[in-house]
Amino acid sequence: MNDLAGKHIVLGLSGGIACYKAAELCRALIKEGATVQVVMTEAAAQFITPVTMQALSNRPVYTSQWDSREPNNMPHINLSRGADAILVAPCSADFMAKLLHGRADDLLSLMCLARPIESVPLLLAPAMNREMWAHPATQRNMAQLSADGAHILGVGSGFQACGETGDGRMLEPAELLEDLIALFQPKAMAGQQVLITAGPTFEAIDPIRGVTNHSSGKMGFALARAAREAGADVTLVAGPVSLATPRGVQRIDVTSAQQMLDATLDQVPTASVFIATAAVADWRPAAPSEQKIKKDGTGQVPALTLVENPDILATVARGERAGSGRLFCVGFAAESQDLVAHAKAKLARKGIPLIVGNIGAEAFGRDDNQLVLVDPHGVQELPRASKLDLARQLIAEIARRMRTPA
Ligand code: C5P
Repeated sequence: MNDLAGKHIVLGLSGGIACYKAAELCRALIKEGATVQVVMTEAAAQFITPVTMQALSNRPVYTSQWDSREPNNMPHINLSRGADAILVAPCSADFMAKLLHGRADDLLSLMCLARPIESVPLLLAPAMNREMWAHPATQRNMAQLSADGAHILGVGSGFQACGETGDGRMLEPAELLEDLIALFQPKAMAGQQVLITAGPTFEAIDPIRGVTNHSSGKMGFALARAAREAGADVTLVAGPVSLATPRGVQRIDVTSAQQMLDATLDQVPTASVFIATAAVADWRPAAPSEQKIKKDGTGQVPALTLVENPDILATVARGERAGSGRLFCVGFAAESQDLVAHAKAKLARKGIPLIVGNIGAEAFGRDDNQLVLVDPHGVQELPRASKLDLARQLIAEIARRMRTPA
């Protein structure tokens, strides 16, 4: 993917040990298609050399407002005018305090102050010791910077270079990249509360074994990411999958269909969009054994009686029709043949305005997919692309349909 193609990012480094992560972040930005101009404070240059950052960004690094390479000797103006965003990572407590007061005694702070505030977003990735992070001064500065229009990207938690454990670690380069990419996505779902089910369910036979399927959860997770990028508050009810939670998404882990139903119904009252991507097991063992079922050596196989699982999507859609009807429900159909015919039948059976069909064997576990959108009026194809790409298209399409109901 080249989600940052054509974007020019000014990457600012202030002083902190997390500067070592800025090297990887710089590479990640470039890999995603951005051009990167690095600006470092004097303190940052104590932690990582401008040479390293120059080699990775393929551009001379700026550290001083007196840099005579600029013909007009105004690097703070020149560097900020061409930027699509300025990302300060790491952003030290001291640098936040400086920004807060509009001080401008080095190139990076000067450039942040001089940036065209309406067109060049400023993103800050704080990095500091946990006590510094928790200090009222830091929290106060952060709140005010946010009110002044900066995007504060939050911090990670865990073991810190100082030997202490807590909040204040700089987010990982992959997380910062995800946030930056999100910034540039259209906000078609701003103000919406999106609820998504994803992954398989696992229906216990006994404490060791169970009935499940090959769903990887990738499509649902991509939709959660795309919805959040589009400005929604997103809750993801996930079956057993080992995927990373998309940034800013609230995740509820469940195992069985019944648990998925319960978790979903808990969230429905506050949701405005429900997207059911989960491959819910249709049946579950009627009476799971409390202990492991043992082979007894006779060659006899245990009888497995199945009962039908609740249909989560149909239950939610039925409740909506009976209630306020403000929830936009979208279903998925994974088929092995006759996709459109099956999808149309499902649309009616589930009582929903939109169903998204895909061929199961060509979708499960893969990073790409192709979709057909089926509604009562017709069929629209979304050609093969990455699941994230398709998820963004689908979210935009859902937002469009919500604005102009059929
Ligand atoms: O009925 P079928 O499994 O083919 O329908 C697929 C759609 O219904 C998907 O959106 C899936 O998430 C949803 N579903 C559900 N609960 C079930 C079965 C399917 O929410 N028990």
